[in-house]
Amino acid sequence: MKRIGILTSGGDAPGMNAAIRAVTRKAIHEGLEVYGINYGYAGLVAGDIFKMDESSVGDKIQRGGTFLYSARYPEFAQVEGQLKGIEQLNKFGIEALVVIGGDGSYHGALRLTEHGYNAIGLPGTIDNDIPYTDFTIGFDTAVNTVLESVDRIRDTATSHERTFVIEVMGRGAGDIALWSGVAGGAEAVIVPEKDFDMQAIADKIRAGRNRGKKHSLIILAEGVMHADEFAEELGKFGDFHTRVTVLGHVQRGGSPTARDRVMASQMGAYAVDLLLQGKGGLAVGIENNKIVAHDILDLFDSKHHAELSLFDLNNDISY
Ligand code: F6P
Repeated sequence: MKRIGILTSGGDAPGMNAAIRAVTRKAIHEGLEVYGINYGYAGLVAGDIFKMDESSVGDKIQRGGTFLYSARYPEFAQVEGQLKGIEQLNKFGIEALVVIGGDGSYHGALRLTEHGYNAIGLPGTIDNDIPYTDFTIGFDTAVNTVLESVDRIRDTATSHERTFVIEVMGRGAGDIALWSGVAGGAEAVIVPEKDFDMQAIADKIRAGRNRGKKHSLIILAEGVMHADEFAEELGKFGDFHTRVTVLGHVQRGGSPTARDRVMASQMGAYAVDLLLQGKGGLAVGIENNKIVAHDILDLFDSKHHAELSLFDLNNDISY
């Protein structure tokens, strides 16, 4: 193997650039050539591909987003799309690939491997919703971004004795809400993985107020319902001077944390090692602080499990 390609696909996540840098630098260090593919699978099919050298990834480790750009490209699920991509791989002499992204990106990586082009997936998403990894690239940064807002919101909540419903991203997973809820001392964390009882939440807020508490924060995962809807429901159980904040895409941007940069670097270098060993169809992850790889197929048969002990912990210590 002489030449590898790299792309980012799906929703961007802070730390993707650190992963691209690690893959590129490690591969060049090992004597390989590296080609960057812009706009994920869409760019692969379109032939938006360029040769990178060690300087192409200079001054990138601290940057949010992905300098290779990203796109959601469902057409790559079809054989026709895959064959068009393979045509480009052949044209550029790319024999293997590293793909950074979420679920859809892994499907593409598996299909390419089946076609004879080894591809390794790295978990890049703020949602942390990928099985067989404790953390995904971008999650830690997103949680810290949320936390900064939660701390700010608490200031104004206290001044006006208000309750805030803060909606966070995560798609169908409650990880961002759980981690930022515990770290931010939220009175309630509402996640898709757990049922909630609005009466109990209202009682908790009321009890806090009766004790002289000046603010109440509820972190709501987007996978449960919209924050406006939640606030309206809560209003049926009492007037808590509720305001709503939907954090939105601010959670996807920003400079990656040290943790995301280091993990992305470890994962990127490991992906190159796997390709050099002639392996493909694998997803890199981190389990118990160790970088690991699993068959992508296993991931499809499995489900991500959020750390629900945080939910119980929050109930025990936040009231
Ligand atoms: O998967 C990352 C994510 O930010 C989710 O948390 C969110 O639901 C979705 O992407 C938003 O997608 P888009 O950027 O396409 O609006």
